[in-house]
Amino acid sequence: MGLRHSGAPAIMTAHPVNAHPARGLHVITWGCQMNVYDSARMGDVLRPLGYAPVDAPDQADMIILNTCHIRDRAAEKVFSELGRLRLVKEARKEAGHSTIIAVAGCVAQAEGEEILARAPYVDIVLGPQTYHRLPEMVARAARAGGRVIETEFPAEQKFDFLPESEAPQTPGNLTAFLTIQEGCDKFCSFCVVPYTRGAESSRPVVSVLAEARRMVASGVREISLLGQNVNAYHGEGPDGTIWGLARLAYALAEIPGLVRIRYTTSHPRDMDDALIAAHRDLPQLMPFLHLPVQSGSDRILRAMNRGHTADEYRDLVRRLREARPDLALSSDFIVGHPGESDADFEATMELVRDTGFALAYSFKYSPRPGTPAAGAGMQVPEDVKDSRLQALQQLLRQQQDAFNQTMVGQSMPVLFTGTGRKPGQIAGRSPWLQPVHVQGSPSLIGQEIMVRITERLTNSLGGIVEEEKEYA
Ligand code: 5AD
Ligand code: SF4
Repeated sequence: MGLRHSGAPAIMTAHPVNAHPARGLHVITWGCQMNVYDSARMGDVLRPLGYAPVDAPDQADMIILNTCHIRDRAAEKVFSELGRLRLVKEARKEAGHSTIIAVAGCVAQAEGEEILARAPYVDIVLGPQTYHRLPEMVARAARAGGRVIETEFPAEQKFDFLPESEAPQTPGNLTAFLTIQEGCDKFCSFCVVPYTRGAESSRPVVSVLAEARRMVASGVREISLLGQNVNAYHGEGPDGTIWGLARLAYALAEIPGLVRIRYTTSHPRDMDDALIAAHRDLPQLMPFLHLPVQSGSDRILRAMNRGHTADEYRDLVRRLREARPDLALSSDFIVGHPGESDADFEATMELVRDTGFALAYSFKYSPRPGTPAAGAGMQVPEDVKDSRLQALQQLLRQQQDAFNQTMVGQSMPVLFTGTGRKPGQIAGRSPWLQPVHVQGSPSLIGQEIMVRITERLTNSLGGIVEEEKEYA
Protein backbone atom coordinates (compact mmCIF):
# COMPACT_ATOMS: atom_id res chain seq x y z
CA MET A 1 0.00 0.00 0.00
CA GLY A 2 2.96 2.22 -0.02
CA LEU A 3 3.29 4.60 2.85
CA ARG A 4 0.82 7.02 4.20
CA HIS A 5 0.58 9.81 1.72
CA SER A 6 -0.53 13.29 2.44
CA GLY A 7 -3.52 14.20 0.33
CA ALA A 8 -3.38 17.08 -2.11
CA PRO A 9 -1.77 19.53 -1.83
CA ALA A 10 1.43 17.63 -1.38
CA ILE A 11 3.54 18.43 1.63
CA MET A 12 6.63 20.47 1.11
CA THR A 13 9.56 20.30 3.46
CA ALA A 14 12.42 22.70 3.46
CA HIS A 15 15.52 22.18 5.51
CA PRO A 16 16.62 24.65 8.13
CA VAL A 17 18.74 27.59 7.12
CA ASN A 18 22.47 27.37 7.30
CA ALA A 19 24.27 30.69 7.66
CA HIS A 20 27.21 30.39 5.25
CA PRO A 21 27.11 27.16 3.30
CA ALA A 22 29.82 26.58 0.76
CA ARG A 23 27.10 25.39 -1.62
CA GLY A 24 23.41 25.72 -1.01
CA LEU A 25 21.10 22.72 -1.30
CA HIS A 26 17.33 23.09 -1.39
CA VAL A 27 15.19 19.96 -1.30
CA ILE A 28 11.46 20.02 -2.01
CA THR A 29 9.72 16.87 -0.80
CA TRP A 30 6.33 15.59 -1.91
CA GLY A 31 4.50 12.47 -0.88
CA CYS A 32 5.12 9.85 1.74
CA GLN A 33 7.28 9.62 4.85
CA MET A 34 9.82 7.59 2.95
CA ASN A 35 10.42 10.53 0.66
CA VAL A 36 11.00 12.69 3.75
CA TYR A 37 13.56 10.15 4.94
CA ASP A 38 15.14 9.89 1.47
CA SER A 39 15.44 13.67 1.16
CA ALA A 40 17.41 13.77 4.39
CA ARG A 41 19.66 10.96 3.18
CA MET A 42 20.32 12.79 -0.10
CA GLY A 43 21.45 15.69 2.08
CA ASP A 44 23.80 13.30 3.93
CA VAL A 45 25.29 12.03 0.65
CA LEU A 46 25.90 15.55 -0.64
CA ARG A 47 27.34 16.99 2.58
CA PRO A 48 30.91 15.79 1.87
CA LEU A 49 30.73 17.74 -1.41
CA GLY A 50 30.17 20.93 0.58
CA TYR A 51 26.40 21.13 0.18
CA ALA A 52 24.44 22.45 3.14
CA PRO A 53 20.70 23.12 3.37
CA VAL A 54 19.28 26.54 2.46
CA ASP A 55 15.61 27.32 2.77
CA ALA A 56 15.09 29.37 -0.38
CA PRO A 57 15.56 27.98 -3.88
CA ASP A 58 17.18 31.18 -5.13
CA GLN A 59 20.05 30.68 -2.68
CA ALA A 60 20.60 27.12 -3.83
CA ASP A 61 23.38 25.82 -6.05
CA MET A 62 21.44 22.61 -6.26
CA ILE A 63 17.68 22.06 -6.09
CA ILE A 64 16.19 18.59 -5.71
CA LEU A 65 12.53 17.94 -6.35
CA ASN A 66 11.66 14.66 -4.63
CA THR A 67 8.42 13.54 -6.25
CA CYS A 68 5.45 11.25 -5.64
CA HIS A 69 3.54 9.27 -8.25
CA ILE A 70 0.95 7.46 -6.18
CA ARG A 71 -2.23 9.26 -7.23
CA ASP A 72 -3.64 12.05 -9.37
CA ARG A 73 -1.89 14.28 -11.83
CA ALA A 74 1.60 13.60 -10.53
CA ALA A 75 3.54 14.43 -13.69
CA GLU A 76 1.64 17.67 -14.36
CA LYS A 77 2.39 18.85 -10.86
CA VAL A 78 6.08 18.13 -11.38
CA PHE A 79 6.20 20.04 -14.66
CA SER A 80 4.49 23.06 -13.21
CA GLU A 81 6.89 23.14 -10.25
CA LEU A 82 9.79 22.71 -12.68
CA GLY A 83 8.50 25.71 -14.61
CA ARG A 84 8.93 27.82 -11.47
CA LEU A 85 12.39 26.38 -10.77
CA ARG A 86 13.45 27.19 -14.32
CA LEU A 87 12.82 30.89 -13.63
CA VAL A 88 14.94 30.62 -10.48
CA LYS A 89 17.73 29.00 -12.47
CA GLU A 90 17.59 31.71 -15.15
CA ALA A 91 17.63 34.53 -12.59
CA ARG A 92 20.59 32.96 -10.81
CA LYS A 93 22.41 32.58 -14.13
CA GLU A 94 21.99 36.28 -14.86
CA ALA A 95 23.54 36.94 -11.47
CA GLY A 96 26.50 34.70 -12.42
CA HIS A 97 25.57 31.56 -10.48
CA SER A 98 24.98 28.11 -11.87
CA THR A 99 22.25 25.83 -10.51
CA ILE A 100 21.82 22.09 -10.75
CA ILE A 101 18.20 20.96 -10.89
CA ALA A 102 17.56 17.32 -10.03
CA VAL A 103 14.29 15.41 -10.12
CA ALA A 104 14.17 12.42 -7.77
CA GLY A 105 11.50 10.05 -6.49
CA CYS A 106 8.81 8.02 -8.13
CA VAL A 107 7.85 10.41 -10.97
CA ALA A 108 11.53 10.50 -11.95
CA GLN A 109 11.55 6.72 -11.97
CA ALA A 110 8.37 6.42 -14.03
CA GLU A 111 8.77 9.36 -16.41
CA GLY A 112 12.48 10.14 -16.47
CA GLU A 113 12.93 10.28 -20.24
CA GLU A 114 9.92 12.54 -20.63
CA ILE A 115 11.25 14.92 -17.98
CA LEU A 116 14.58 15.23 -19.80
CA ALA A 117 12.79 15.79 -23.10
CA ARG A 118 10.28 18.33 -21.87
CA ALA A 119 12.45 20.19 -19.36
CA PRO A 120 15.88 20.82 -20.93
CA TYR A 121 16.98 22.81 -17.88
CA VAL A 122 16.80 19.70 -15.67
CA ASP A 123 20.31 18.34 -15.12
CA ILE A 124 19.73 15.11 -13.22
CA VAL A 125 16.90 12.58 -13.11
CA LEU A 126 17.32 9.87 -10.52
CA GLY A 127 15.17 7.02 -9.27
CA PRO A 128 14.78 6.13 -5.59
CA GLN A 129 17.26 3.26 -5.75
CA THR A 130 20.17 5.38 -6.97
CA TYR A 131 20.56 8.10 -4.32
CA HIS A 132 23.93 6.76 -3.19
CA ARG A 133 25.27 7.61 -6.67
CA LEU A 134 24.35 11.29 -6.40
CA PRO A 135 27.89 12.64 -5.91
CA GLU A 136 29.02 11.00 -9.14
CA MET A 137 25.93 12.32 -10.94
CA VAL A 138 26.65 15.84 -9.68
CA ALA A 139 30.18 15.60 -11.04
CA ARG A 140 28.88 14.43 -14.40
CA ALA A 141 26.24 17.17 -14.51
CA ALA A 142 28.80 19.82 -13.63
CA ARG A 143 30.74 19.01 -16.79
CA ALA A 144 29.58 21.29 -19.58
CA GLY A 145 26.33 20.11 -21.05
CA GLY A 146 26.26 16.95 -18.96
CA ARG A 147 22.80 15.63 -18.28
CA VAL A 148 22.31 12.51 -16.25
CA ILE A 149 19.54 9.98 -15.98
CA GLU A 150 19.78 7.11 -13.47
CA THR A 151 16.59 5.13 -13.21
CA GLU A 152 17.98 1.63 -13.28
CA PHE A 153 17.58 -0.66 -10.32
CA PRO A 154 21.28 -1.14 -9.53
CA ALA A 155 22.60 -4.51 -8.46
CA GLU A 156 24.17 -3.02 -5.35
CA GLN A 157 21.96 -2.08 -2.41
CA LYS A 158 21.89 1.65 -1.85
CA PHE A 159 21.96 1.28 1.94
CA ASP A 160 25.36 -0.42 1.68
CA PHE A 161 26.70 2.71 0.03
CA LEU A 162 24.89 5.54 1.78
CA PRO A 163 26.87 7.24 4.53
CA GLU A 164 25.60 6.99 8.09
CA SER A 165 22.73 9.37 8.60
CA GLU A 166 23.97 12.54 10.27
CA ALA A 167 20.97 13.38 12.34
CA PRO A 168 17.37 12.37 12.80
CA GLN A 169 15.09 13.86 10.23
CA THR A 170 12.50 15.55 12.39
CA PRO A 171 12.78 18.80 14.27
CA GLY A 172 13.60 18.54 17.95
CA ASN A 173 15.22 15.15 17.42
CA LEU A 174 12.65 13.35 19.59
CA THR A 175 10.90 11.37 16.88
CA ALA A 176 12.48 10.00 13.73
CA PHE A 177 11.80 7.88 10.68
CA LEU A 178 14.02 4.91 9.89
CA THR A 179 13.66 3.08 6.58
CA ILE A 180 14.14 -0.66 7.03
CA GLN A 181 12.53 -2.04 3.89
CA GLU A 182 11.78 -0.81 0.40
CA GLY A 183 9.88 -1.89 -2.64
CA CYS A 184 7.01 -4.26 -3.09
CA ASP A 185 6.35 -7.58 -4.82
CA LYS A 186 2.59 -7.62 -4.26
CA PHE A 187 1.47 -5.94 -7.49
CA CYS A 188 -1.92 -4.69 -6.41
CA SER A 189 -3.89 -3.92 -9.55
CA PHE A 190 -4.00 -0.14 -8.95
CA CYS A 191 -0.54 0.60 -7.59
CA VAL A 192 2.65 2.03 -9.12
CA VAL A 193 4.93 1.21 -6.21
CA PRO A 194 6.23 -2.15 -7.51
CA TYR A 195 7.24 -0.34 -10.71
CA THR A 196 8.70 2.83 -9.20
CA ARG A 197 10.30 1.43 -6.05
CA GLY A 198 11.20 -1.95 -7.46
CA ALA A 199 11.41 -5.37 -5.87
CA GLU A 200 11.14 -5.78 -2.17
CA SER A 201 14.36 -5.61 -0.20
CA SER A 202 15.24 -5.32 3.47
CA ARG A 203 18.19 -3.72 5.22
CA PRO A 204 20.35 -6.00 7.36
CA VAL A 205 19.50 -6.08 11.06
CA VAL A 206 22.91 -4.80 12.15
CA SER A 207 22.62 -1.65 10.07
CA VAL A 208 19.07 -0.95 11.30
CA LEU A 209 20.04 -1.44 14.95
CA ALA A 210 23.13 0.74 14.55
CA GLU A 211 21.10 3.56 13.03
CA ALA A 212 18.47 3.23 15.77
CA ARG A 213 21.14 3.39 18.49
CA ARG A 214 22.66 6.50 16.91
CA MET A 215 19.25 8.13 16.80
CA VAL A 216 18.55 7.33 20.46
CA ALA A 217 22.01 8.54 21.49
CA SER A 218 21.22 11.86 19.82
CA GLY A 219 17.97 12.20 21.80
CA VAL A 220 15.34 10.37 19.77
CA ARG A 221 12.66 8.72 21.93
CA GLU A 222 10.32 7.42 19.23
CA ILE A 223 11.28 5.65 16.00
CA SER A 224 8.88 4.96 13.16
CA LEU A 225 10.15 2.13 11.02
CA LEU A 226 9.34 2.72 7.38
CA GLY A 227 8.79 0.43 4.45
CA GLN A 228 6.37 0.23 1.54
CA ASN A 229 5.59 -3.22 2.90
CA VAL A 230 7.23 -2.88 6.28
CA ASN A 231 5.90 -6.06 7.82
CA ALA A 232 7.27 -8.07 4.90
CA TYR A 233 10.67 -7.17 6.42
CA HIS A 234 13.12 -10.06 6.13
CA GLY A 235 16.54 -8.67 6.97
CA GLU A 236 19.71 -10.67 7.34
CA GLY A 237 20.41 -11.14 11.04
CA PRO A 238 23.84 -11.00 12.72
CA ASP A 239 23.72 -14.81 12.95
CA GLY A 240 23.12 -15.17 9.20
CA THR A 241 19.46 -16.15 9.64
CA ILE A 242 16.62 -14.06 8.29
CA TRP A 243 14.78 -11.94 10.82
CA GLY A 244 11.18 -10.85 10.48
CA LEU A 245 9.79 -7.57 11.74
CA ALA A 246 8.71 -9.11 15.06
CA ARG A 247 12.24 -10.22 15.91
CA LEU A 248 13.60 -6.82 14.92
CA ALA A 249 11.02 -5.13 17.17
CA TYR A 250 12.10 -7.23 20.17
CA ALA A 251 15.74 -6.24 19.53
CA LEU A 252 14.87 -2.55 19.16
CA ALA A 253 12.87 -2.71 22.39
CA GLU A 254 16.11 -3.54 24.20
CA ILE A 255 17.69 -0.19 23.33
CA PRO A 256 17.61 1.83 26.56
CA GLY A 257 15.94 5.20 26.08
CA LEU A 258 13.83 4.17 23.09
CA VAL A 259 10.34 4.50 24.54
CA ARG A 260 8.19 4.19 21.44
CA ILE A 261 8.34 2.07 18.31
CA ARG A 262 5.94 2.36 15.38
CA TYR A 263 5.99 0.87 11.91
CA THR A 264 4.23 1.69 8.68
CA THR A 265 2.89 0.58 6.21
CA SER A 266 1.77 -3.00 6.78
CA HIS A 267 0.01 -5.45 4.51
CA PRO A 268 -2.65 -7.70 6.08
CA ARG A 269 -1.09 -10.74 4.44
CA ASP A 270 2.23 -10.19 6.21
CA MET A 271 0.76 -9.74 9.68
CA ASP A 272 2.09 -12.98 11.14
CA ASP A 273 1.56 -14.55 14.58
CA ALA A 274 5.00 -13.45 15.77
CA LEU A 275 4.20 -9.81 15.05
CA ILE A 276 0.82 -10.11 16.75
CA ALA A 277 2.62 -11.60 19.78
CA ALA A 278 5.07 -8.69 19.75
CA HIS A 279 2.11 -6.34 20.20
CA ARG A 280 1.13 -8.38 23.25
CA ASP A 281 4.68 -8.47 24.70
CA LEU A 282 6.27 -5.11 23.96
CA PRO A 283 4.96 -2.00 25.69
CA GLN A 284 7.19 0.08 23.40
CA LEU A 285 5.26 -1.08 20.35
CA MET A 286 2.53 1.53 20.08
CA PRO A 287 -1.07 0.27 20.00
CA PHE A 288 -1.84 2.01 16.75
CA LEU A 289 -1.53 0.17 13.48
CA HIS A 290 -1.93 1.39 9.92
CA LEU A 291 -3.33 -1.66 8.16
CA PRO A 292 -4.82 -0.72 4.79
CA VAL A 293 -7.68 -2.88 3.58
CA GLN A 294 -8.69 -0.84 0.47
CA SER A 295 -12.09 -2.53 0.08
CA GLY A 296 -14.56 -4.68 1.99
CA SER A 297 -15.79 -6.61 -1.05
CA ASP A 298 -14.24 -10.01 -1.74
CA ARG A 299 -14.83 -9.57 -5.45
CA ILE A 300 -12.96 -6.26 -5.52
CA LEU A 301 -10.24 -7.50 -3.17
CA ARG A 302 -9.67 -10.31 -5.67
CA ALA A 303 -9.64 -7.87 -8.61
CA MET A 304 -7.17 -5.75 -6.66
CA ASN A 305 -4.94 -8.81 -6.13
CA ARG A 306 -4.85 -8.18 -2.40
CA GLY A 307 -4.58 -11.86 -1.48
CA HIS A 308 -7.12 -11.91 1.35
CA THR A 309 -10.87 -11.72 1.91
CA ALA A 310 -12.87 -9.26 3.99
CA ASP A 311 -13.49 -11.91 6.65
CA GLU A 312 -9.80 -12.73 6.84
CA TYR A 313 -9.21 -9.05 7.59
CA ARG A 314 -11.93 -9.11 10.28
CA ASP A 315 -10.32 -12.17 11.83
CA LEU A 316 -6.89 -10.57 11.77
CA VAL A 317 -8.24 -7.49 13.55
CA ARG A 318 -9.87 -9.74 16.15
CA ARG A 319 -6.58 -11.53 16.85
CA LEU A 320 -4.68 -8.25 17.08
CA ARG A 321 -7.18 -6.85 19.57
CA GLU A 322 -7.01 -10.05 21.58
CA ALA A 323 -3.26 -9.59 21.85
CA ARG A 324 -3.41 -5.87 22.58
CA PRO A 325 -6.91 -4.79 23.66
CA ASP A 326 -6.23 -1.06 23.32
CA LEU A 327 -4.98 -1.44 19.73
CA ALA A 328 -6.57 1.05 17.33
CA LEU A 329 -6.49 0.79 13.58
CA SER A 330 -6.08 3.13 10.70
CA SER A 331 -6.56 2.19 7.07
CA ASP A 332 -6.57 3.24 3.44
CA PHE A 333 -9.57 2.81 1.17
CA ILE A 334 -10.07 3.14 -2.56
CA VAL A 335 -13.56 3.74 -3.92
CA GLY A 336 -14.42 3.19 -7.56
CA HIS A 337 -11.86 0.55 -8.47
CA PRO A 338 -12.81 -0.77 -11.93
CA GLY A 339 -15.79 -3.09 -11.62
CA GLU A 340 -16.92 -1.81 -8.21
CA SER A 341 -20.74 -2.10 -7.99
CA ASP A 342 -23.10 -0.55 -5.44
CA ALA A 343 -23.14 -3.89 -3.61
CA ASP A 344 -19.31 -3.97 -3.52
CA PHE A 345 -19.26 -0.47 -2.09
CA GLU A 346 -21.88 -1.43 0.51
CA ALA A 347 -19.60 -4.32 1.55
CA THR A 348 -16.86 -1.75 2.20
CA MET A 349 -19.23 0.31 4.35
CA GLU A 350 -20.14 -2.86 6.25
CA LEU A 351 -16.50 -3.72 6.90
CA VAL A 352 -15.94 -0.21 8.22
CA ARG A 353 -18.98 -0.47 10.51
CA ASP A 354 -17.83 -3.89 11.78
CA THR A 355 -14.22 -2.87 12.38
CA GLY A 356 -14.26 0.69 13.71
CA PHE A 357 -11.31 2.76 12.55
CA ALA A 358 -9.57 5.43 14.59
CA LEU A 359 -8.33 7.12 11.43
CA ALA A 360 -8.51 6.46 7.72
CA TYR A 361 -7.43 7.80 4.37
CA SER A 362 -9.79 7.29 1.48
CA PHE A 363 -9.29 8.00 -2.18
CA LYS A 364 -11.09 7.87 -5.47
CA TYR A 365 -9.49 5.31 -7.73
CA SER A 366 -7.18 7.06 -10.19
CA PRO A 367 -5.77 5.09 -13.12
CA ARG A 368 -1.98 4.89 -13.02
CA PRO A 369 -0.41 4.30 -16.42
CA GLY A 370 1.14 0.87 -16.72
CA THR A 371 -0.82 -0.74 -13.89
CA PRO A 372 -3.28 -3.57 -14.66
CA ALA A 373 -6.39 -1.76 -13.40
CA ALA A 374 -5.72 1.28 -15.59
CA GLY A 375 -6.34 -0.78 -18.72
CA ALA A 376 -9.31 -2.68 -17.31
CA GLY A 377 -12.86 -2.22 -18.59
CA MET A 378 -15.72 -1.19 -16.31
CA GLN A 379 -14.17 2.05 -15.10
CA VAL A 380 -16.51 3.68 -12.59
CA PRO A 381 -17.92 7.10 -13.58
CA GLU A 382 -16.52 10.11 -11.70
CA ASP A 383 -19.86 11.15 -10.18
CA VAL A 384 -20.37 7.66 -8.73
CA LYS A 385 -16.87 7.76 -7.25
CA ASP A 386 -17.63 11.18 -5.78
CA SER A 387 -20.78 10.12 -4.01
CA ARG A 388 -19.24 6.89 -2.69
CA LEU A 389 -16.23 8.79 -1.39
CA GLN A 390 -18.48 11.27 0.37
CA ALA A 391 -20.51 8.53 2.07
CA LEU A 392 -17.42 6.62 3.13
CA GLN A 393 -15.66 9.70 4.44
CA GLN A 394 -18.70 10.70 6.45
CA LEU A 395 -18.77 7.29 8.15
CA LEU A 396 -15.01 7.30 8.75
CA ARG A 397 -15.19 10.83 10.18
CA GLN A 398 -17.91 9.71 12.63
CA GLN A 399 -15.73 6.80 13.72
CA GLN A 400 -12.71 9.04 14.15
CA ASP A 401 -14.69 11.51 16.27
CA ALA A 402 -16.16 8.68 18.35
CA PHE A 403 -12.70 7.22 18.90
CA ASN A 404 -11.27 10.57 19.97
CA GLN A 405 -14.24 11.12 22.27
CA THR A 406 -13.50 7.86 24.13
CA MET A 407 -10.19 9.41 25.18
CA VAL A 408 -11.88 12.02 27.36
CA GLY A 409 -11.53 11.00 31.01
CA GLN A 410 -8.76 8.49 30.26
CA SER A 411 -5.19 8.65 31.53
CA MET A 412 -2.48 7.90 29.04
CA PRO A 413 1.23 8.40 28.48
CA VAL A 414 2.02 11.39 26.27
CA LEU A 415 5.43 11.89 24.70
CA PHE A 416 5.99 15.65 24.77
CA THR A 417 7.86 16.94 21.75
CA GLY A 418 7.55 20.73 21.85
CA THR A 419 5.76 23.81 23.04
CA GLY A 420 2.10 24.36 22.19
CA ARG A 421 0.51 27.28 20.38
CA LYS A 422 -0.77 29.02 23.49
CA PRO A 423 1.50 30.48 26.20
CA GLY A 424 2.49 27.95 28.85
CA GLN A 425 1.39 25.02 26.70
CA ILE A 426 3.42 21.98 25.79
CA ALA A 427 2.40 19.51 23.11
CA GLY A 428 2.97 15.88 22.34
CA ARG A 429 1.35 12.75 21.02
CA SER A 430 -0.78 10.04 22.58
CA PRO A 431 0.04 6.38 21.88
CA TRP A 432 -2.55 6.65 19.10
CA LEU A 433 -0.76 9.61 17.49
CA GLN A 434 -3.36 12.16 18.55
CA PRO A 435 -1.87 15.59 19.28
CA VAL A 436 -2.25 16.40 23.00
CA HIS A 437 -1.84 19.85 24.63
CA VAL A 438 -1.43 20.56 28.34
CA GLN A 439 -0.29 23.45 30.51
CA GLY A 440 3.15 22.34 31.61
CA SER A 441 6.79 23.09 32.05
CA PRO A 442 9.02 22.91 28.96
CA SER A 443 11.30 20.70 31.08
CA LEU A 444 8.82 17.88 30.35
CA ILE A 445 9.62 18.03 26.64
CA GLY A 446 11.38 14.81 25.66
CA GLN A 447 9.64 12.76 28.33
CA GLU A 448 6.69 10.43 28.30
CA ILE A 449 4.35 11.62 31.05
CA MET A 450 0.93 10.46 32.27
CA VAL A 451 -1.81 12.87 31.25
CA ARG A 452 -5.53 12.83 31.98
CA ILE A 453 -7.51 13.87 28.92
CA THR A 454 -10.14 16.47 29.73
CA GLU A 455 -11.40 17.61 26.35
CA ARG A 456 -11.60 16.76 22.69
CA LEU A 457 -10.92 19.60 20.28
CA THR A 458 -11.34 19.38 16.49
CA ASN A 459 -8.05 17.70 15.72
CA SER A 460 -6.42 17.32 19.08
CA LEU A 461 -6.96 16.53 22.75
CA GLY A 462 -6.53 18.72 25.81
CA GLY A 463 -5.48 17.35 29.18
CA ILE A 464 -3.72 17.86 32.48
CA VAL A 465 -0.43 16.40 33.63
CA GLU A 466 -1.12 13.76 36.27
CA GLU A 467 2.34 13.45 37.72
CA GLU A 468 5.49 15.15 36.70
CA LYS A 469 7.35 11.90 36.89
CA GLU A 470 8.60 10.11 33.85
CA TYR A 471 6.29 7.30 32.82
CA ALA A 472 7.62 3.71 32.71
N1 5AD B 1 -5.83 5.33 -6.98
C1 5AD B 1 -6.29 5.72 -5.78
N2 5AD B 1 -5.65 5.46 -4.64
C2 5AD B 1 -4.49 4.80 -4.70
N3 5AD B 1 -3.63 4.40 -3.74
C3 5AD B 1 -2.59 3.80 -4.33
N4 5AD B 1 -2.75 3.78 -5.66
C4 5AD B 1 -3.93 4.39 -5.92
C5 5AD B 1 -4.65 4.67 -7.11
N5 5AD B 1 -4.20 4.30 -8.29
C6 5AD B 1 -3.89 4.60 -2.32
C7 5AD B 1 -4.02 3.26 -1.60
C8 5AD B 1 -2.74 3.16 -0.85
C9 5AD B 1 -2.45 4.62 -0.55
C10 5AD B 1 -1.03 4.91 -0.19
O1 5AD B 1 -2.80 5.29 -1.75
O2 5AD B 1 -5.13 3.31 -0.73
O3 5AD B 1 -2.84 2.36 0.32
FE1 SF4 C 1 0.92 -1.62 -1.15
FE2 SF4 C 1 -0.16 -3.20 -3.04
FE3 SF4 C 1 1.15 -0.97 -3.73
FE4 SF4 C 1 2.51 -3.06 -2.77
S1 SF4 C 1 1.37 -3.01 -4.68
S2 SF4 C 1 2.80 -0.90 -2.19
S3 SF4 C 1 1.03 -3.88 -1.24
S4 SF4 C 1 -0.75 -1.09 -2.53
